[in-house]
Amino acid sequence: MDAFIINGGRRLSGTIRVNGSKNAALPILAASLLTDQPVTLSDVPDLADISNMLRLLDDLGCQIKRTPASQDAPDDLTITADPKGKSHAKYDIVRTMRASICVLGPLLAKRGEARVSMPGGCAIGDRPVDLHLRGMEALGAQITLESGDIIARAPSGGRLRGNTVFLGGQFGPTVLGTANVMSAATLAEGLTVIENAACEPEVVDLANLLNAMGAHITGAGSPRVVIEGVKSLKGANHRVMPDRIEAGTLILASAITNGQLTITNCPIDSLLALGDRLERVGIHTRATSETGPRGERSTVEVSSERVLKPVQISTHPHPGFPTDLQAQMMALLCLADGNSVITERIFPERFMHVAELSRMGAHLFRQGPTVVVSGVRKLVGAPVMASDLRASASLVLAGLAAEGQTTIRRVYHLDRGYETLDKRLVALGADIERINDQALDA
Ligand code: EPZ
Repeated sequence: MDAFIINGGRRLSGTIRVNGSKNAALPILAASLLTDQPVTLSDVPDLADISNMLRLLDDLGCQIKRTPASQDAPDDLTITADPKGKSHAKYDIVRTMRASICVLGPLLAKRGEARVSMPGGCAIGDRPVDLHLRGMEALGAQITLESGDIIARAPSGGRLRGNTVFLGGQFGPTVLGTANVMSAATLAEGLTVIENAACEPEVVDLANLLNAMGAHITGAGSPRVVIEGVKSLKGANHRVMPDRIEAGTLILASAITNGQLTITNCPIDSLLALGDRLERVGIHTRATSETGPRGERSTVEVSSERVLKPVQISTHPHPGFPTDLQAQMMALLCLADGNSVITERIFPERFMHVAELSRMGAHLFRQGPTVVVSGVRKLVGAPVMASDLRASASLVLAGLAAEGQTTIRRVYHLDRGYETLDKRLVALGADIERINDQALDA
């Protein structure tokens, strides 16, 4: 397995482009199951999770064609689904990637049935799908659970029926649950209203693709989404939105090294909660050019004040502070001058990074869903272990700032959500070497 060796203390500087969004691309790829026409997607990042989704779509009877795009962009992907393909998303793929649950709604809506393995939990806590099933049942599906698989069948006649469904859970809305129900409702008979829908930008990006395919969706990005069902959808071309979590991670990489990064293709308008907190800490993000509606593809310059101030953060559904940036922000606040408080309201167990950061000299005190971050003058390099995608990113950031050498094992977690992050950071001045971890045991 791969590991990183990071020699810290180097300031990052230069320009880096944000890749397409993993969390937008996954439900968008699944949406290609809703039509037998070709769907062409650009800016789909080349990541382990994306490869797993493509493997699943192939298994479900989709033809996938790659076409080279411009030199610094990934290949365009054209997916053409065969509605007579298999409708069984098997455990061996689903267990590798929880987001496979995104195929449930499209399969059910287009093929009248779906068999999807129940996704397991993961390092950030339980990952139930009860809200997904509530949505499918609201659309008239019959759901049974058989030996670890969800079996969903459309009403007799094969077409789902529009309905009003409240999709909120104890932790608020569900992002992929909203994506699943919104996608399925595009082919249902009649009107569907999703109340307490997730407002994440990735849901808006999916709705933009679905409307380009001929769906009638209004209200995406608000807590109430309305979908007027149509008989069929056609193919479309779509460019995936920039990855706001990768963008936030890069902003924090600049900040933690007291660097000066220019970040292009940056969806700064989707990161206002991060920007608000960073201003209080003493990190400034300035958009020097805005392209795309509401600056969704801006060029942003990051600058840092010498002394970082402590801050209070609670993660919330969008537009609140994103849970996917909590671990990375914690790494930065380890070096603030005072006590910060971080409360995780989406995944209360999402603290696998706390023990590892403490090994690097951080002073962290966890009480349930809250961690007090008592700032220290410096972090010290140490051998640490990655455990999940964003915790891994947090350890990379800490390693960039720490004095001395940090080794991070199991960086396959990082490769699920960041494309060649080590190489891209090295190009900005970081000292990171990717090795086989057997070399660490030699
Ligand atoms: C999406 O996961 C993201 N993944 C996650 O990013 C992100 O952390 C999460 O949204 C929250 O923003 C993708 O988009 C691929 P949820 P999702 O359903 O949709 C509970 C990353 O690092 N819940 O919005 O699976 C759930 O336990 C990943 O890129 C139910 O109770 O998350 C959580 O507490 C990690 N029942 C809360 O809702 C359900 O049926 C929000 O989860 C579904 C969810």
